[in-house]
Amino acid sequence: MKVRQFRKLPVIVHEVLKAIGVVAGQLGYSAYLVGGIVRDIIIGTENLDLDIAIEGDAIRFARIFAARTGSVVRNPTRFGTCKIESKAFGTIDLASTRTEIYPHPGALPLVQPADIKADLGRRDFTINAMAICLNPHSYGLLVDPFGGHEDISKQLLRVLHEKSFTDDPTRILRGIRFAARYGFKFERGTARYLSDCLKGGCLKTISGERIFHEIELICRERQVASALAMLARKGILDALDGDARKENLAKYLRKVSIGIQRLRPCLDEREVEAWVIWFGALFAGLSSRRMQRVISHLRPPGRAKRLLLWLASDCKRLLRVLRQSHKDSYKTTRILNKVPMEGLVHLYSLSGTSERKAVLKYACYWRHVRPSLSGEDIVRLGVSQGPMVGKILERLTKLRLMGRIRSRKDEIETIRELLKGRRN
Ligand code: CTP
Repeated sequence: MKVRQFRKLPVIVHEVLKAIGVVAGQLGYSAYLVGGIVRDIIIGTENLDLDIAIEGDAIRFARIFAARTGSVVRNPTRFGTCKIESKAFGTIDLASTRTEIYPHPGALPLVQPADIKADLGRRDFTINAMAICLNPHSYGLLVDPFGGHEDISKQLLRVLHEKSFTDDPTRILRGIRFAARYGFKFERGTARYLSDCLKGGCLKTISGERIFHEIELICRERQVASALAMLARKGILDALDGDARKENLAKYLRKVSIGIQRLRPCLDEREVEAWVIWFGALFAGLSSRRMQRVISHLRPPGRAKRLLLWLASDCKRLLRVLRQSHKDSYKTTRILNKVPMEGLVHLYSLSGTSERKAVLKYACYWRHVRPSLSGEDIVRLGVSQGPMVGKILERLTKLRLMGRIRSRKDEIETIRELLKGRRN
């Protein structure tokens, strides 16, 4: 069967794919487009990540193809995988078709050369186990040994065999990501294998880092809230000792979603990573001890770790402080200056109406308030260099935040009075 939607790929992509097919044919190989892009072509979602499987020696193919097209081969491995990079068409992933044998559950697989059908048979879901042939005589033909096309039309996620999740439990998290992204359901048998795998403790067979990586990908999805709610429903948070709010998670996720919408216009994308906020939402409410366990298991890096630590140690206390101080713009600003930016959204989501207003004002205005005079200006006005300059700058910020002064002129006036007061 030819894939109708395949024709809609940009002309430049077809040029590259055809060239791949021609070179493969000349070497006596077959070349296929595989993986997520085939799925997305059929679903009709944009995806230009070119993933190519070669029935033959992919590294040899890559070297010859690169020499003819003025591109370069990167990262060749002994498993027959590499990348081709070129200015004209970006990066292409290449691999020799292969089977994978899992020596024990959760282990990295042992790899052996095989044909395209066997290569597709090692994959996670039927919708990801299809290929499109690129050789000239069969260009555009779909190879679909497991019924992926039909499962797409039925909106189903189906594994290829019952041991799929135990072989590689990260597939549970991938499945949840795809289910949320496309609005698909797990086929009945697949749902059973998934829950049996979890009940058997299969997540313990893979490293926390691999679990974290998959959760990060989920947190970067557009449909993140429904994916995270599904994560909790399937019992994955329980398995990670992270389920702090049980059935309340869905409600909290809605609040976080509103928090992100409200604060987003005032937060620079470089200061806040939305996926980190969502990641924190999964674990918000855990005690310090349980949070420490989650951190040492998942080993989240940088900002994500910082947010989890803050959520467990400071968030509750700050909520109480904010209840007292939210009317005082200066105090609130000083308090919130110490909060990680992603934590602001959590504070917003957890607060009452008045505190929420203060958090919003802080994010949009208060945190940007600075005196218009610089340190040098202050010295020029007669203040001697040293710690006093910093104190005056802080005082001017305070007065501005309190609305007592509004202009540069007011600032100069304030300093003159201060100096006068000191002379007298
Ligand atoms: N794959 C798999 N099992 C995994 C990871 C990957 O079977 N644990 C296979 C699937 O066939 C998948 C392909 O490898 O389609 C490529 O994997 P990847 O690039 O990680 O995912 P995509 O399916 O392309 O998904 P995305 O759109 O999120 O990149």
